[in-house]
Amino acid sequence: MSTAIITGITGQDGSYLAELLLKKGYQVIGVARRSSTVNNERIKHLLDDITVVQGDLQDQGSLLALLEEYKPTEVYNLAAQSFVPTSWNQPALTGDVTALGVTRLLEAIRFVNPKIRFYQASSSEMFGKVLEVPQKEDTPFYPRSPYGVAKVYGHWITVNYRESFNMFTTSGILFNHESPRRGLEFVTRKIADTVARIKLGKTNELRLGNLEAQRDWGFAGDYVRAMWLMLQQDHPDNYVIGTGETHSVREFCEIAFAHVDLDYKEFVVQDEKFYRPAEVDLLISDPSKARTALKWELTVSFKELVRMMVDADLERRSKE
Ligand code: NAP
Ligand code: GDD
Repeated sequence: MSTAIITGITGQDGSYLAELLLKKGYQVIGVARRSSTVNNERIKHLLDDITVVQGDLQDQGSLLALLEEYKPTEVYNLAAQSFVPTSWNQPALTGDVTALGVTRLLEAIRFVNPKIRFYQASSSEMFGKVLEVPQKEDTPFYPRSPYGVAKVYGHWITVNYRESFNMFTTSGILFNHESPRRGLEFVTRKIADTVARIKLGKTNELRLGNLEAQRDWGFAGDYVRAMWLMLQQDHPDNYVIGTGETHSVREFCEIAFAHVDLDYKEFVVQDEKFYRPAEVDLLISDPSKARTALKWELTVSFKELVRMMVDADLERRSKE
């Protein structure tokens, strides 16, 4: 039985990736940092089938110990301080976890077993103020937040360990991917959850920042399949993963409210508080390399994603 280690197991992608790897027959070891309250909401249905161990990207020794003990063949590094606005409030922490944390994990792999295959969760935020439309693997980076800057470091250190030590290190440059398990502070989930609460009479407004920002949004369940595929190839590489479509925050609102027979214009209020010091205005991927080389395909369209998220929040909120 192959063993895979997933950092960031308690996050959105960690839960979907664990489900996928269990179906494929892996032993799954999830790494979670210690917190004073249990944080297993997204993986509670998997706890009988996976092993959750304590570890932290800020602690080199914990990473070494994990690899020594569980002897994985694959490591998926999904852990990060992943919320862009927080990266302006905590830029040093974001750099330590999201950037240097990658080096700590790569160093642990290099010392324990350099044959371990490694996946790094890179981001379309690296393209930032985009220098090319659509964005593909060789589009230059221009990050616009401390988070984006940290992810650029994580990407290049991953490439560097491939080139310096001949290690099987891959970088998946993933565009935004969402689901009913998305954190409540990200815009898609904030919209879906507030639409549900408005429909149920629990609130009467949705306060948002920039409605014109455009993102290439896909379904997280599809994107974790791409992560696994990258580690099954003959050679390590970088891949852009996205839908090839872009939609504005406004359009997301329009579809989400219309799904419950409401008009977003009656409920959405723009609030300066949610604007960012520097914005990423437009992201749109060219995922043709992944489609051809990985034979990766989408199963959920943009409209299906919006409706899936609203339906899930309606069901959850109506039980409260
Ligand atoms: P998420 O829901 O925010 O999950 C992040 C995970 O990282 C959580 O499990 C969190 O643990 C963990 N973590 C944070 N700091 C840590 C530390 N110091 N040591 C160990 N674990 C730590 O993020 P996601 O949406 O699943 O995204 C997964 C990865 O893909 C992230 O690296 C993100 O930056 C990247 N990415 C995401 C997208 C997207 O659209 N979702 C797109 C491109 C790239 P707690 O639960 O304890 O906070
Ligand atoms: N969060 C949030 N809240 N965003 C808002 C709001 C609001 O009230 N109003 C407008 N937005 C706009 C933001 O300004 C941004 O342009 C867009 O909605 C998307 O914001 P988020 O959902 O927070 O995601 P993100 O694009 O900044 O970052 C996500 O995707 C990246 C991949 O491109 C995160 O998952 C990152 O970790 C990931 O790397």
